[in-house]
Amino acid sequence: MEKRKILIQLDSDPQASVFDRVVAIDAGADELFSYAGVKPEQVQGLVHGAIFTRKASDLKSTAIFVGGSDVAMGEKLLAECVKHMAPQYGLRVSAMLDSNGANTTAAAAVRAAARHMDLKGAAALVLGGTGPVGQRVARLLAREGADVRVASRQQSKAAAVCQEIAGRVTGANLQPIGVSSPQELSSGLKGRTLVIAAGAAGVVLLPESARSAATSLKVAIDLNAVPPLGIEGIDVMDKAKDQNGVICYGAIGVGDTKMKVHRLAIAKLFEQNDHVLDAEEIYQLASTL
Ligand SMILES: NC(=O)c1ccc[n+]([C@@H]2O[C@H](COP(=O)([O-])OP(=O)(O)OC[C@H]3O[C@@H](n4cnc5c(N)ncnc54)[C@H](OP(=O)(O)O)[C@@H]3O)[C@@H](O)[C@H]2O)c1
Repeated sequence: MEKRKILIQLDSDPQASVFDRVVAIDAGADELFSYAGVKPEQVQGLVHGAIFTRKASDLKSTAIFVGGSDVAMGEKLLAECVKHMAPQYGLRVSAMLDSNGANTTAAAAVRAAARHMDLKGAAALVLGGTGPVGQRVARLLAREGADVRVASRQQSKAAAVCQEIAGRVTGANLQPIGVSSPQELSSGLKGRTLVIAAGAAGVVLLPESARSAATSLKVAIDLNAVPPLGIEGIDVMDKAKDQNGVICYGAIGVGDTKMKVHRLAIAKLFEQNDHVLDAEEIYQLASTL
């Protein structure tokens, strides 16, 4: 008989995310064990509890979800999870990272763009490219073979992100740019066919005047759902809305795919016991939608 599906939620915040808990149940978890305020040094015991309790053949019915608002901490927690499994004995469980919704959001955004253009060779600009979501968007675009400009108010921050991505993605075509003035923003937009804005909530990164002057744009995607929005003139609900020849998505327009990807990824965890779902794997799942 199939064991009940147990999802173990390791959340770095003081309170485990209600959002992640609801999605876990909707995605088919039968039981949810939620741990809040999880620190890397506590992961070993939690993982051992997961892998030493069921037969190896039943471990596909136990899985780990790493969340919380701190994406860097989430990455550490996931690395600890992987480190403390015992694959040589088949004693491991699948795990997924989606701290701050960064992986599912980035995957959904890049997937939205891919519906309208060939990403290979696409001239892309990622505004807010230094945040956790923006970094993943840039990484996924680079993997798809896009020519990616990563923007920041400080060019040096964008350069550090490009370097990090180049270390992971062989042949990545990346250019760091500073966008601290309207002139820099307009030169960063020159020739770009895709812009994805992943700036902080409530911050306009692309004003209407700069956007309407960017005549090469074909697809514009904003991930900020908190007014004022990241790209002026794109509504939060826009979903593949054609505005004078530019296909536009707002944060909620992308959110529908994000939710589907999140649920799909959790369901995937219970198919076998050796999945590790990070940005790339979650993007692959998004591509099947
Ligand atoms: N739809 C969803 O389900 C969903 C899920 C997760 C996140 N989001 C949204 O996705 C966006 C990105 O999330 P995130 O966590 O990666 O964002 P974040 O880390 O808060 O910010 C991203 C970048 O925005 C820039 N920024 C910050 N304050 C700024 C300011 N006052 N003026 C101009 N630029 C500023 C910073 O880049 P520089 O310092 O390098 O300029 C920062 O690295 C957010 O709007 C978030 O709300 C949506």
